[in-house]
Amino acid sequence: MSKRAPLLILAGALALTMTACGQTSSEPSTGAVTGGAAADKKIVMGFSQVGAESGWRTANTKSVQEAAEKAGIQLKFSDAQQKQQNQIKALRSFVQQRVDVIAFSPVVESGWDTVLKEAKNANIPVILTDRAVDSADTSLYKTFLGSDFVEEGKKAGQWLVEEYKDSKDPVTIVELQGTTGSAPANDRKAGFAEVIGADSKFKIAASQTGDFTRAKGKEVMDAFLKSTPKIDVLFAHNDDMGLGAIEAIEGAGKVPGKDIKIITIDAVKDGMQALADGKINYIVECSPLLGPQLMDLAGKVVKGEQVPARVVTEETTFTQEQAKEALPSRQY
Ligand code: AHR
Repeated sequence: MSKRAPLLILAGALALTMTACGQTSSEPSTGAVTGGAAADKKIVMGFSQVGAESGWRTANTKSVQEAAEKAGIQLKFSDAQQKQQNQIKALRSFVQQRVDVIAFSPVVESGWDTVLKEAKNANIPVILTDRAVDSADTSLYKTFLGSDFVEEGKKAGQWLVEEYKDSKDPVTIVELQGTTGSAPANDRKAGFAEVIGADSKFKIAASQTGDFTRAKGKEVMDAFLKSTPKIDVLFAHNDDMGLGAIEAIEGAGKVPGKDIKIITIDAVKDGMQALADGKINYIVECSPLLGPQLMDLAGKVVKGEQVPARVVTEETTFTQEQAKEALPSRQY
């Protein structure tokens, strides 16, 4: 994974995944913009996206691309198709092209130190966006902009505790986890488990990855319905997996939202529609609209200004009634 391939081959391979936004700058960048003629030069950002696995991801890509255009930042956009090795190749290519700043949303938490050291040695600042890495050396990146995923898992658990506060019966839960090894899967699972763990009536009977996709969510829920005779609650780490699971539940002749209560995370339009329709019971918001803050941070780090080590996204939660009110003006 950390082996260096010849740079020319890497740059060529990467070009295949670049979008129209990602035109190569004709002149290599020299790093920090200091003033005079350099001050007018467009900042070049290399951005490595996880993929297009969910409605959330599509909205996040749009937010980043639109914000870059608005801020006058040239974006070299690369889609990793949910593979860490593609992100490592993209990051190396950005270093080789001497972009002014690298931003990326790491598909998994571990295994980034080598490539991040290469960026640091080349004096190219790195911004983590949406997801964190687990590197002990925090000097390898300037800041991390994104949600508090542990808090999101806790909010999901708190709704469940409240919903069943008057019941003494056991509550059987199945869990659809996000991509294995990713920060949102690890943290949402931990936050949820911490809150429900305070009451022994809550039991997670099955927990498996659905890779944040609708298709996998359906497939795994189909299997849960066969292996677990009585399911009271589904906790899905994102809307897309929850929506796939709804298809499986309906296919099994059960009523989602009633026979099986469903909690999801994200609050994208399709999820909010299912919530308003009574098929989902509660959604914890995770905002994908990170573009404007990301461009603002990028402008600052390129100028050498101090930025906070952590920028946490503001988020809310939605009940079925709140979803009906919010839907008409929902942006994504
Ligand atoms: O990292 C954010 C998560 O990634 C979103 O909750 C999920 O939908 C996406 O794929």
